[in-house]
Amino acid sequence: MYRYDEFDHRFVKERVSQFRDQVERRLSGALTEEEFKPFRLMNGLYLQLHAYMLRVAVPYGTLSADQMRRLARIAEVYDKGYGHFTTRQNIQFNWPALKDVPDILDELAEVEMHAIQTSGNCIRNVTTDAWAGVAADEIADPRPVAELIRQWSSLHPEFSFLPRKFKIAVTGAPHDRAATKAHDIGLRLHLNDEGEPGWEVMVGGGLGRTPMIAVTVRDWLPERELLRYLEAIMRVYNLAGRRDNKYKARVKILVHELGAEEFRARVEEEYVRLDKSPIEVEAAELERIAAYFAPPAYESQPKVVASFEEARLKDPAFAQWVRSNVADHKVEGYAIANISLKPEGGIPGDATADQMRAVADLAEAYSFGEIRVSHRQNLVLPDVRKADLHALWQALAEHGLAAANLDLATDIVSCPGLDYCALATARSIPVAQALSRRFADLRQQHDIGPLRINISGCINACGHHHIGNIGILGLEKKGVEFYQITLGGRGDDDAAVGSLIGPGFSGEEVPDAVETIVGTYLAERADGETFLDTYSRLGAAPFKEALYAAR
Ligand code: HEM
Ligand code: SF4
Repeated sequence: MYRYDEFDHRFVKERVSQFRDQVERRLSGALTEEEFKPFRLMNGLYLQLHAYMLRVAVPYGTLSADQMRRLARIAEVYDKGYGHFTTRQNIQFNWPALKDVPDILDELAEVEMHAIQTSGNCIRNVTTDAWAGVAADEIADPRPVAELIRQWSSLHPEFSFLPRKFKIAVTGAPHDRAATKAHDIGLRLHLNDEGEPGWEVMVGGGLGRTPMIAVTVRDWLPERELLRYLEAIMRVYNLAGRRDNKYKARVKILVHELGAEEFRARVEEEYVRLDKSPIEVEAAELERIAAYFAPPAYESQPKVVASFEEARLKDPAFAQWVRSNVADHKVEGYAIANISLKPEGGIPGDATADQMRAVADLAEAYSFGEIRVSHRQNLVLPDVRKADLHALWQALAEHGLAAANLDLATDIVSCPGLDYCALATARSIPVAQALSRRFADLRQQHDIGPLRINISGCINACGHHHIGNIGILGLEKKGVEFYQITLGGRGDDDAAVGSLIGPGFSGEEVPDAVETIVGTYLAERADGETFLDTYSRLGAAPFKEALYAAR
């Protein structure tokens, strides 16, 4: 895992002490809320419906057990005993008191964490595949490059006041588990004919009011030239991106308005003009960073782990969990254990302080002390010996963390919506909870198979509803909340924005509507088809008919 050097420690500490002074001035009344706003936003502090909300960065979703324990402590001492893991692999605290925020930041700094660049019009936390470094299909661990980008973009003098916020996602695997095409910049590792690694660069994806899928501007870029190319993109965007209208300020609008060809031409022109030497990535530097992500000391394991196979046969509930929540690992005898934060009727992404501590302990006992946060609001223990999976599962169950529903109907992604968010037009948490209860039957979920449901409480799309197979968007008309449903969205290699199926539904009608959609799929599916397969074969017509025929 990446470790701070002296510079990082000093830098983060200085930021905290600056902010402490700003908070004191706000509390004494020397600063109005309006004057205070730019300062707090630079430190990840939002003002929400009921309280301040602090967004803490989890770079590329990687946490140590100690960091997780610290998050648990913060939840307990300064919040209401829980935290909310988000689609950007971060964690948010919904109830800190303003006077405590500098102390929280000090506590975070002690474990090499902070809230810098988690808001504002800058390059935000770089996200990646939650299985980075361990997935069986991976070409290479993308985290050294994510870390490189983090260092390059932190307080970058030229790119700290962009036209709008900027999000970069990186993947090192052929199966995109980082939704790279739904980001301002998506980077995807490929090997060229000589077997050398390089990056495909995609630009102009993003959700929100105008959802768009990114376009590829470079098929393959040598590693050492990555930052120079990123710098060229950022410069074109910074200069030409619109600042007159915040709804048209994201890079996706620029790419769209100029056209991909013209945008690419401008980037290439800037790229050639940029002085090479200062930002060329030296192999030695990348190696230095990569050393922090060196694989842990795996032990050699038998090909077939008898105790694991036996437990699977004996214990159907364990077998079910393995089937949905355990994924293949690069190293023989090891597995990736996904911890669902979506128990029946729960709030997606929420974890209590006790649960965070339990995960930290289990990471130490079974996963070399490392934890990941996924962009589907779940946690991951990346390095579990197959021989330990049964014990791990039993321990998870004791803490309400063994829901066997990864990527199934109740693995719902949801933003906080009207329960917390000042921008919300409708609630999303209660809708997620109602759906979670409706589809609680695990046997049925396993029968339905992979199905991603995403919910947002307004057009900003924090719940990624556009790329949900079933997307739910909460809106409001004449004081009444209603929900639009989109179908066919996906965030993977074939990323697509879902299509609106028809008129919206009341909150109470949503579970029935989703059940009708799922029922139509079950009735129509051919052998081995997933929901998306059936939807792409048949299109929206049968689903529409089933939903609206009776209206
Ligand atoms: C304090 C509550 C929040 C506020 C005020 C807020 C604000 C916003 C706004 C204004 C946008 C639209 C930006 C644009 O399109 O230009 C947005 C998008 C987004 N937010 Fe949030 N958000 C909040 C909470 C969250 C949470 C809890 C998550 C994750 C669960 C999240 C993740 C995202 C994501 C993934 C997008 C989509 C960005 C894109 O691709 O265009 N946000 N948010
Ligand atoms: S989608 Fe809207 S309601 Fe949900 S968190 Fe984002 S801004 Fe708030």
